Amino acid sequence: MSTTYRIAPSILSADFAFLGQEVHSVINAGADWIHFDVMDNHYVPNLTFGPMICQAIKPHAKKMDGTPVPMDVHLMVQPVDTLAAMFADAGADYISFHPDASPHVHRSIQAIRAKNCKPGLVFNPAMPLDVLDWVIDDIDLILLMSVNPGFGGQSFIDSTLRKIEAVRKRIEASGKDIRLEVDGGIKGDNIRRVADAGADTFVAGSAIFGKPDYKAVIDQMRAALR
Ligand code: DX5
Ligand code: ZN
Repeated sequence: MSTTYRIAPSILSADFAFLGQEVHSVINAGADWIHFDVMDNHYVPNLTFGPMICQAIKPHAKKMDGTPVPMDVHLMVQPVDTLAAMFADAGADYISFHPDASPHVHRSIQAIRAKNCKPGLVFNPAMPLDVLDWVIDDIDLILLMSVNPGFGGQSFIDSTLRKIEAVRKRIEASGKDIRLEVDGGIKGDNIRRVADAGADTFVAGSAIFGKPDYKAVIDQMRAALR
């Protein structure tokens, strides 16, 4: 079976003064998903955007032919459940949270599912995967952080490669259709290694928005994945 790779530009590194235009530009450049980094100045030190911005972007998250582009909401917040519900109402497609930010991980997953969104779990670089023993059947996405959460533009942490391999084995053993996404420090020159370890979905913020030609970067990433 061939893997369908997805590239998910993180608008954390976009120009916030032109956010709608940035979303259009990156989708026209070939983005498969829009990755939306929600930070609360509590779970992580940074502070970004809330559900009202997600709601404003949602109508713009579509290709020229009208095909919707999924909104991939990455919650770096604590507590999880209230904001997860608000993002579901704001048009999120995937909603991922850090299990260490929720006292009742199973309940948070169910709450996201009940809102007809796809739940995901996010693991920081030093977080064990044990929680997957109990909830892997209930989620649609596993997001591995390859940097410490909170900021764009950091360097890829190499131990993530071993972790990707471990998660890929767990997904295969589960027999479920679960996306394996990696977030942090991904660029044209390391995306192939991340894919070879078993990832199928790639977040990239500064690598794309830090360059003038988004299409050139995304094309280079796809060429590396071929
Ligand atoms: C970090 C965020 C990432 C970030 C990645 O907490 O979760 O999505 O935007 O940025 P780059 O690609 O610049 O490492
Ligand atoms: Zn993210």
